[in-house]
Amino acid sequence: MPRQIRLNAFMMNCVGHLAPGQWTAPGDQSVSYLNTRYWVDLAQTLEAGLFDGLFLGDVTGLYDVYGGSPDAALRTAAQTPMNDPVPLIPLMAHATQHLGFGVTVSVAYEAPYLLARRFTTLDHLSQGRVAWNVVTSYLQSGARSLGQNELRAHDERYDRADEFLEVCYKLWEGSWEDAALQRDASRGIYADPARIHSVEHKGRYFDSEGIFQCEPSPQRTPLLFQAGGSARGTRFAARHAECIFLGAPTRNGLRSSARAIRSALSEAGREPDSALLFAMLTVIVDETAERAQARYAAYRERASDEGALALLSGWTGIDLSRYRPDDTLSYVDTDAGQSALASFSKLDPEREWTVRDAVEFVSIGGRGAVVVGDAAQVADELQALVEETGIDGFNLTWVESPRTFHDIVQYLVPELQRRGVYKQHYAEGTLREKLLGQGARLQAPHIGASFRRG
Ligand SMILES: Cc1cc2nc3c(=O)[nH]c(=O)nc-3n(C[C@H](O)[C@H](O)[C@H](O)COP(=O)(O)O)c2cc1C
Repeated sequence: MPRQIRLNAFMMNCVGHLAPGQWTAPGDQSVSYLNTRYWVDLAQTLEAGLFDGLFLGDVTGLYDVYGGSPDAALRTAAQTPMNDPVPLIPLMAHATQHLGFGVTVSVAYEAPYLLARRFTTLDHLSQGRVAWNVVTSYLQSGARSLGQNELRAHDERYDRADEFLEVCYKLWEGSWEDAALQRDASRGIYADPARIHSVEHKGRYFDSEGIFQCEPSPQRTPLLFQAGGSARGTRFAARHAECIFLGAPTRNGLRSSARAIRSALSEAGREPDSALLFAMLTVIVDETAERAQARYAAYRERASDEGALALLSGWTGIDLSRYRPDDTLSYVDTDAGQSALASFSKLDPEREWTVRDAVEFVSIGGRGAVVVGDAAQVADELQALVEETGIDGFNLTWVESPRTFHDIVQYLVPELQRRGVYKQHYAEGTLREKLLGQGARLQAPHIGASFRRG
């Protein structure tokens, strides 16, 4: 039986996510990100196409590494300006029934207790359809805005994130026993205090003492996503993540990233296929291959190199204004994101990248490949990627909004369904049940399940 393909949409609460410059196209509506209607329409489009989720990225801080200033990012609207993604979720959840909502929240500037409460609230309001993409932040500008002199060192950010999650698991899984919630109107008892436990956490980075103030939500712990691909990031993912995003520009790179993650999962005592892997990808599909290619050519014309330089410099921590376009990128450890630079240097030994190549690549679709064609051509490529790399699906970026997703729903989804590699209807239940085919809650041997009481 051919491998099933899962689709998520990858967005941000901003104008230009991974295709800077495209907002200038006639018909593009990405500047409507300030309107509730824009998000509700998008969510309903994705649900009509049976997408598993709408996944919202987020960063704290400005892209000011390129040329030492945020000017390029501001001029080109490259992930700047950007609003908070969390408030979008309840309004889209209200307008849909099955679509999942992944949201990125960094652990760098939050207290575990407050974040746990916010996700519990989202999980209640979405009837168990929320996922958390755990990130540790890579922009020094964000640290400065939050009153810290600089980001913590790269690997230490993950050590701290491990403890952050431990506190969250204690709150989500360990504070309220299942039988604690009584809602017994005849006896006038809402909850049984004897079954609600105080969390006593005293750690290296965090202290938390007291019971969790929220009643348990359908999933308790939101479905956990992670996207850090460095060695330390991969170990973190193998311990916590149930779904993992990969950003690899070539098929070889994708295959080796997927392999590294599957073996890290084994080393962490989990089944190698216990986490779903989603590759970042951009799809430009139209009624005919010629029309798709013509649109791609127009997008290429409009793509902003300046915006791409701002993004790539921010992700890698390297000021690319100091490089010439023909310079070859080579890997160095930085305290920004390490896997972004690895993607364009050591990840695929068969591929060398100049700055020009990497900027052209990033300017449409970020760290993921672009697939252009009619529905059959795109479906062929998606199937080949899934079969050859062992991934489970795609985190699809957009070039023109909302057109990119309308086209995918109109042309690609029916083709995938016809080939028997895409669902015909949603499964019932929470996002965890829909995606992993297991119960609503974390299950052993996932570390989070070990904090459960009662
Ligand atoms: C598909 C994908 C999506 C990502 N989305 C975000 C995001 O929204 N916010 C963020 O801060 N980092 C995001 N990242 C970056 C990673 O989460 C991670 O912070 C970064 O790669 C640095 O970690 P590393 O050095 O372990 O790779 C994303 C990475 C990938 C591959």
